[in-house]
Amino acid sequence: MRILILTGAGVSAESGIATFRGKDGYWRNLDPAKLATPEAFARDPKLVWDWYRGRRQRIRNAQPNAAHAAIAKLAQHANEFLLVTQNVDDLHARSGPPKEKMVQIHGDIFVTKCSRCESERRDDPPSHDYGAAGEKEPEGDIPRCPKCDALMRPGVVWFGEQLPWNEVTRVENYLNREPCEIVIVAGTTATFGYIIDWALQASRGGELIEVNPEETPLSCFATQMVREPAAIALPRIVDELIAGRSSKL
Ligand code: APR
Repeated sequence: MRILILTGAGVSAESGIATFRGKDGYWRNLDPAKLATPEAFARDPKLVWDWYRGRRQRIRNAQPNAAHAAIAKLAQHANEFLLVTQNVDDLHARSGPPKEKMVQIHGDIFVTKCSRCESERRDDPPSHDYGAAGEKEPEGDIPRCPKCDALMRPGVVWFGEQLPWNEVTRVENYLNREPCEIVIVAGTTATFGYIIDWALQASRGGELIEVNPEETPLSCFATQMVREPAAIALPRIVDELIAGRSSKL
């Protein structure tokens, strides 16, 4: 089987990581223009770093859930498989799909990259193991680039920024090879056009399974809508697929 999986924040919700637009989502109470744009970072890098450090800490304290595990299991079984996640947390990565079968299209929250040159590093585990010491990453500390001394920023894609070219190319190369038998879209409001485009392009003539307690712009295209939490639905769906029973999941 040739499979594409597209995920969003809803897949990490059952690990205790807030979504963006769901109930108690980040953007319900916070203004993305103040926290997740290059302009916001230029205006107040401390405010932006403090917020991302708080998110990093919550992710460090979280564990992958049954949805992440089910997706990793399917990656092992499927001939051709690609997971494209909008999530910047490392819960998918921690549950083990091979790197070459996963694309973090909005970047990685544990990467710290220079706001001017190409230099970047991965801060997890951080140089100092705050979690083990029960400490928090020091607030207010704005890292500077060891090469060009410019401010460093979280390695995520902010509103108004381009997607990482090499990652987009990986997705499009996979989709352009041939359509997929199975496309699963889980835990996303499909807010961005490229998510809808990729889901529709990949599912031409195949199954498009939406896993989300709520309706999304993709629902009308889905061949199956599974209105259940991902950690409940995905283990069952994956076991059915592996058992070769994909008709009625
Ligand atoms: N299982 C499945 N789906 C769930 C669950 C769950 N347990 N809990 C919530 N959801 C669904 C919600 O119904 C909602 O449709 O997950 C979706 C979360 O949507 P968003 O908060 O909009 O998150 P996402 O789609 O990933 O956002 C896309 O927007 O803010 C930017 O860059 C950020 O990557 C993010 C992007």
